[in-house]
Amino acid sequence: MIKKETIEKVLDAARIEEVVGDFVDLKKRGTSLIGNCPFHNEKTPSFHVSVNKGIYKCFGCGAGGDSLKFIMEHEKYAYPEAIRYLANKYHIPVEEIERSPAQMAAQDKRESLYVLNQWASKYFKEQMWETDMGKSIGLSYFHERGYRDDIIKKFDLGYSPEAWTALVDEATKSGFAKEYLTEIGLAVERDDKSLYDRFRGRVMFPIHNLTGRVIGFGGRTLKKDKNVPKYVNSPESEIYHKSNVLYGLHLAKKAIIDHDLCFLVEGYADVLSTHQAGVEHVVSSSGTSLTTGQIKLISRYTKNVVILYDGDEAGIKASLRGTDMLLGEGLNVKVLLFPDGNDPDSYIQKFGASEFRNYVEHNQEDFVFYKTNILLRDAKEDPIKRAEVIREVVESIALIPDEIKVSVYIRQCSSLLDIEERILLSELNKIRLNKARAIEKKESQQAPDMPPPQGADDWFPAEMLAAMGAEAPSMEPVKVESAEQRMEKELVRILLNYGRELVVWEGDGDVPVAPYLLANLDDVEIVDPTCQIIVQEFSKQAENFQVPEAKFFFAHENQEVAALAVDSLVNKYEISPNWNDDKRKIYVPEEIEQLKMLVNQLIYRIKKNKIEVQMRTIQEELKITQNDDDLQILLAKYQKLKEGEQLLGQLLGNIIVK
Ligand code: GTP
Ligand code: MN
Repeated sequence: MIKKETIEKVLDAARIEEVVGDFVDLKKRGTSLIGNCPFHNEKTPSFHVSVNKGIYKCFGCGAGGDSLKFIMEHEKYAYPEAIRYLANKYHIPVEEIERSPAQMAAQDKRESLYVLNQWASKYFKEQMWETDMGKSIGLSYFHERGYRDDIIKKFDLGYSPEAWTALVDEATKSGFAKEYLTEIGLAVERDDKSLYDRFRGRVMFPIHNLTGRVIGFGGRTLKKDKNVPKYVNSPESEIYHKSNVLYGLHLAKKAIIDHDLCFLVEGYADVLSTHQAGVEHVVSSSGTSLTTGQIKLISRYTKNVVILYDGDEAGIKASLRGTDMLLGEGLNVKVLLFPDGNDPDSYIQKFGASEFRNYVEHNQEDFVFYKTNILLRDAKEDPIKRAEVIREVVESIALIPDEIKVSVYIRQCSSLLDIEERILLSELNKIRLNKARAIEKKESQQAPDMPPPQGADDWFPAEMLAAMGAEAPSMEPVKVESAEQRMEKELVRILLNYGRELVVWEGDGDVPVAPYLLANLDDVEIVDPTCQIIVQEFSKQAENFQVPEAKFFFAHENQEVAALAVDSLVNKYEISPNWNDDKRKIYVPEEIEQLKMLVNQLIYRIKKNKIEVQMRTIQEELKITQNDDDLQILLAKYQKLKEGEQLLGQLLGNIIVK
């Protein structure tokens, strides 16, 4: 962490006109300076800098703040990065707060890895620009592909010689530790612990992070041999997390902000060529499908993305799903195809920069419509395939977080697909419901009160079952009982065994278990007829402050009521082959000790289950509802229930089995 004193010194030293002046051409007007706002596109300047106050303000877009804010906004730096930037500008040494040895070691290790990569990048460049082999093999390869020297330098390209230990030897001479060389992936360890170079006889593309530090490398072979992998890349390391890196972003970020647009290409070569053609708002996912981390990275700078595909249709179809993820992050996505299997790189090399820019300008297509058309073309008139297309398209639309955009897409796709909007909307609702349900299911599986495996009582946690003295879940087929029935039976069991126990409840003082349970469940309808009779008897007697005894039911006229009463009591002292006196002594007192928890948990579970039953009913209704108004009402009801259910889930999660 940076010391407070350093931060104060930096903020003191920073002159707003100098900080902003590095990025904006400022002209004096009256007491303030004025220029074109760097945060939005404008032709007449509305960006004001007040030297006296040390602040900037744009009257066009509303951006404003001090020097630090300007650097954070303009360079997209986090607070400490911005402080470091300003400290560097004003030559103020950055003092750090003392760190623990472990923190220091971790920090120093990361720093060492950065330094090593920086060194390696310089080494590869020297090999290419300053050795005969490098010039005749590496540099001439880039020249043959048409890359200019300024572009080769801009991207810090280099060459790794065709030798087993060229880099390892040089690095060892320079004093770099062996373990760092392997950790960062510049070297690979043999069985006998000796090292050899990972990149041999390849041209090198350093991969940079946002602040421009080298975090890894891609090395391209110069051989035409199909058996040699075209690219060898650095492995993941402490400083290189592939899923959060986009090739070229450190050079593209300003252009992306300026254009409020990001071009997404596949290869390193494409990024080089587009830059050479004067198009700099370009990044590459390096051949892999996009990750959410990468998408979030883009969306820091712009919400508008154009994917530049090469023309291979199979490849495009395979990537449709990956592209859907961009929609899910709220980005506006367009696609652009190059003819005849060209990629941006080959198109530029063949037709030149201006033809490329012209092509890009005129051939972008909205992704959702593009996807719709490409799928429709395949489906032709086959009604089953067309239904599938409708589902897939609506699935994409369902990902879009902005409701206004969703309705626009639904309307336009309705005409593209030649199908009523109403039907698309109901499909959309279905997909959203399914998604909500899937999330819900995942959450309940992760929750601490996760149900025990199949075959066990599927609503009490295993440790609870143990505490209640139940036998271990048997693998025998169990009688088919709904969760609802089982809970009602448990309610009866608790009423009969512990109904008269006095418990001190939070807020309610001491009240016997039976009236407490009944009061809390008085809005719940008991559906099992046998359980219903017993619970009703408890309610009746509660009016006279009485709690019936179990034996009251033993001779009940209804055989099933009598049997259930007996079972409930026997269950408490259940005799089973695994059951011995020792265990009883341990477990039975425990159930009484945990009574309060047991009772509250039961209340929440019963309520939660009732809600879930209602939710399922609504889901069934939703499937058959055609009327839009009905649909809205049902969805609103469902949402209310869902909220209640989530609350109960939280309450249940808070009850801890001691
Ligand atoms: P050129 O063939 O030189 O134009 O390369 P390119 O950068 O255009 O690569 P291409 O379009 O063939 O592939 C796109 C990206 O996928 C590359 O930039 C690499 O990041 C990655 N890639 C391609 N081939 C390989 C490979 O063999 N191994 C690995 N790990 N990545 C590869
Ligand atoms: Mn290529």
